[in-house]
Amino acid sequence: MQETLNKALWLAAKQAPFSVAEAPYTAPRGREVVVRTRAVALNPFDRHLQTIGSLACPWLNYPMVVGHDLAGDVVEVGEAVTRFQPGDRVLGLAGGVDKGRNRAAEGAFQDYVVLLEHMMTPLPAALGYDQASVLPLGLSTAACALFQDEFLALAPPRVQRQRRSETVVVWGGSTSVGANAIQLAVAAGYDVLTTCSPKNVDFVRGLGARQAFDYRSATVVADLVGALGQSRCAGAVAIGTGAASACLDLVVAAGGARTVAVVTPPATFDGIPAGRGRLRKLLPILVGNASGLLKLMWRAKRHGVATPFVWGTALIHNHVGPLIFQDYLPEALASGAFQPSPPCRVAGHGLEAIPAAMAMHEAGLSAAKLVVTL
Ligand SMILES: NC(=O)c1ccc[n+]([C@@H]2O[C@H](COP(=O)([O-])OP(=O)(O)OC[C@H]3O[C@@H](n4cnc5c(N)ncnc54)[C@H](OP(=O)(O)O)[C@@H]3O)[C@@H](O)[C@H]2O)c1
Repeated sequence: MQETLNKALWLAAKQAPFSVAEAPYTAPRGREVVVRTRAVALNPFDRHLQTIGSLACPWLNYPMVVGHDLAGDVVEVGEAVTRFQPGDRVLGLAGGVDKGRNRAAEGAFQDYVVLLEHMMTPLPAALGYDQASVLPLGLSTAACALFQDEFLALAPPRVQRQRRSETVVVWGGSTSVGANAIQLAVAAGYDVLTTCSPKNVDFVRGLGARQAFDYRSATVVADLVGALGQSRCAGAVAIGTGAASACLDLVVAAGGARTVAVVTPPATFDGIPAGRGRLRKLLPILVGNASGLLKLMWRAKRHGVATPFVWGTALIHNHVGPLIFQDYLPEALASGAFQPSPPCRVAGHGLEAIPAAMAMHEAGLSAAKLVVTL
């Protein structure tokens, strides 16, 4: 049999520069599937793994291949796979850096990726690889926040949704995680209030949010409490710097909700160089995060509110992964009930284009997802 050549964007060691080189082709076992990658999308965490990977994921084996979001074609399936066969067009969450996987063969930034069957969804014919690739980590992180037992523990999303009388607040609705959280909460039957910049109000309303408020406004918390009216708040998803503390104020003022699912830490890890000057930049951020988290926990405890931190790939290991990728998303995408969102912006082609696309990502993005085609 002819050997399949694979290439990957490697992170050879902690804080090393990314570099493209050959990689082994790993055959699938059990419920694994090998996918030929056609498009990958970029997440803030993918580049943070280069600069703070040794702190955020101390378990990582090097050399590592990072990347979470991909769409492509199935080329080989493990002996226990029942949902896919070679030739199928799919999207999937690449879990290579998750503590329970920790395997270069499962990172998205390579030509041939090993995925887990229960974290994959077939693509409808009309959906391109580039637009489909925006989904996996944003969708997974949103689902972890909304549906896991120790988070908002909402009723599951359904294509034929059943309306409920409760409201979910998604702070940061125009982010990739937020766009998915709005749609999932609406599909689960909840009313959704959100925040974003004024220019993105139509975008988040198009995803199903009832009302959107500017997160920079001095009255945003009071505005959200007013918009809740008599509706019980089922909890808040806090996305964006400063979101956790504001969401805590909100659920305390609104009464009723007991959980704020925290997606973004108090201080951003953007702007930390991988090499020279790293410690000087990193230390104040670590101190800011530690003191911000302690303050948040102390205030939350005083008010009897839980503020669990979301780990966006945790659903690989519990009922939420199959609930989303297997039970809900295939029909929701095929019927048009769920829109891959935010819109993709293709930043280049080939593994070599990913580091430059990461730099573009760090420079800032609004209601869009950067994608590299392969
Ligand atoms: N915990 C996890 O497992 C996990 C997983 C994935 C992402 N995250 C985190 O989730 C956040 C969003 O990630 P993403 O990939 O979804 O981001 P993204 O799509 O790249 O975010 C861009 C958006 O952020 C919005 N934004 C900027 N500052 C904000 C603030 N202070 N409050 C609310 N919105 C703000 C902007 O909205 P406007 O243009 O409307 O102003 C912009 O549209 C990041 O902090 C990321 O690190 C965490």
